[in-house]
Amino acid sequence: MKTICLKSVDSTNTYIKNLPVKERVDGLIVVADKQTAGRGRMGKTFKSDGKGIYMSFVIKTDCAVSEAVVLTSFAAVSVCRAIEKVCGINAGIKWVNDIVYGGRKLCGILTEAVNVSGDKAECFIIGIGVNVNEEKFTDDLKDKAVSLKMILNRNVDKEKLLLALKEELNEMKVSCFNDKENFYNEYIKRSVMFGKTVVLNCDDIPAEVIGIDKNYALAVKYGNGEIKKVNSGDISVDGIYGLGL
Ligand code: BTN
Repeated sequence: MKTICLKSVDSTNTYIKNLPVKERVDGLIVVADKQTAGRGRMGKTFKSDGKGIYMSFVIKTDCAVSEAVVLTSFAAVSVCRAIEKVCGINAGIKWVNDIVYGGRKLCGILTEAVNVSGDKAECFIIGIGVNVNEEKFTDDLKDKAVSLKMILNRNVDKEKLLLALKEELNEMKVSCFNDKENFYNEYIKRSVMFGKTVVLNCDDIPAEVIGIDKNYALAVKYGNGEIKKVNSGDISVDGIYGLGL
């Protein structure tokens, strides 16, 4: 696995997007000690001040761009496995791209397609930001975010976790499409969404989460009994009651 390690970069996802095509090889990993403009989904920023792991992973696949949510979901399972291996904790998944623990966000994942033509892409970049050794967060995040150090009460060896993440991602790259069922089952087992009331940003009406289908679409039920399925593309579920996210 080729890995590029940087001291500081705007965003590891952006760095990969700006590479010449021939350098954007399958399995490439870019890791930075810190990011000056870390990005999250829906134009949000991702705080990347040096205590966490900020990495991006290139995957070349003929997966349709409209179905790229499966890649985010496979990656979410892979990150949980790596955290479990190194830290011994069982992290959960908040649809679609957040890894959570105790109702707070531990890691975010941002999947982006590069050089899209029709529904195909030259490759996908899976960006992963894990809160590792932060001791506290700024006021705007302190009720929503958590780090591994806060959970375990000790420093976590970033190199060890990075190695485990690389191993899991590489394994995912090789096996995910043959092993779809296992990834899906584990995603569902780790999901913290079922039975929770959420507010989709498309309609602002509280609804109960009743399922996540095999294409990773979220099914919700409104008070009037109406059921709706939403894809991740244009939806966020920021208001999870009881989860503080
Ligand atoms: C989210 O929470 O919405 C996703 C956050 C993704 C953050 C990671 S950090 C490494 C990579 N580079 C970025 O700019 N973003 C991702």
